[in-house]
Amino acid sequence: MKFRAYAKINIGLFIFGKRTDGYHDLETVFHEIDLYDELELEPHDELTMTADSILVPIDESNLCLRAAQLLQKEHNVRQGVSINLKKNIPIAAGLGGGSSDAASVLLGLNELWHLKLKKNKLEKLAAELGSDIPFFIDGGTAFATGRGEILKHFELNIPYWIVLVTPARFVSTTWAYNSIKNYRNGKGTGWQNVLTEHIQNPKKLVTAVQNDFEPSVFKAHPEILHTKEKLQNSGAVFSLMSGSGSSVFGFFKDVKRAQQVVKEFPPTYVVSITEPNFHARQGKK
Ligand code: C5P
Repeated sequence: MKFRAYAKINIGLFIFGKRTDGYHDLETVFHEIDLYDELELEPHDELTMTADSILVPIDESNLCLRAAQLLQKEHNVRQGVSINLKKNIPIAAGLGGGSSDAASVLLGLNELWHLKLKKNKLEKLAAELGSDIPFFIDGGTAFATGRGEILKHFELNIPYWIVLVTPARFVSTTWAYNSIKNYRNGKGTGWQNVLTEHIQNPKKLVTAVQNDFEPSVFKAHPEILHTKEKLQNSGAVFSLMSGSGSSVFGFFKDVKRAQQVVKEFPPTYVVSITEPNFHARQGKK
């Protein structure tokens, strides 16, 4: 069984404060883009895993293996699985690659092990594994609140070419959360309505749709700020860092400009382009 595990970008990320459980309350829009890892699941007696990247740990810390273990435990499954992962999504880059892989394992094993679990049950299990993982059960686009696990899915057609650039920098999510000194006051500023209503009018997005990690991450890693500036100076009508970085995306109206700018980053940077109105679900499996 082969599956695609798509990457997400965060189109806006607002952080409201630290909770008693150590997580932070946030608001974000997750949106899947045309960049994916490839997973192959085969029946096996035990739980085993291989990956084509030495950057992926194949031990107990791996989210794919933890997802399989959780399903085995919760549903008294005796079968195992062999998981093969082809990694295309940059790691620790704000793109949810590991989270998407884990969600695909939950979806895949639900079929392979004939568990017949409903999506809301899979989302609950996903939330036990990580804050970003429930989103990838249904994918597409969603407004997320809580620690990222409370989801409202909606249609968002992005009428631009999305250029994604990942500088050769790893940013720790835990460090990024701890580096925020001033949280936003209150909630419900309605920024996500500005995003959906004014997607055709990017000037409005620039002031309304922000990422609260940018100031501290840009200070610690100036090359990420320079990446955003380069996208803006090359014709992006809107640009933002995704998650806690290091990836930055830009919306381009002109495909030639989009194709040109990706050639201008150093070879150690990972770049990709997503077509206008892309919808990941169509090709998910
Ligand atoms: O949930 P997940 O394991 O992906 O989170 C990784 C780390 O990111 C957490 O240990 C926590 O430090 C931080 N985090 C947070 N608030 C969130 C999500 C993650 O503080 N909403």
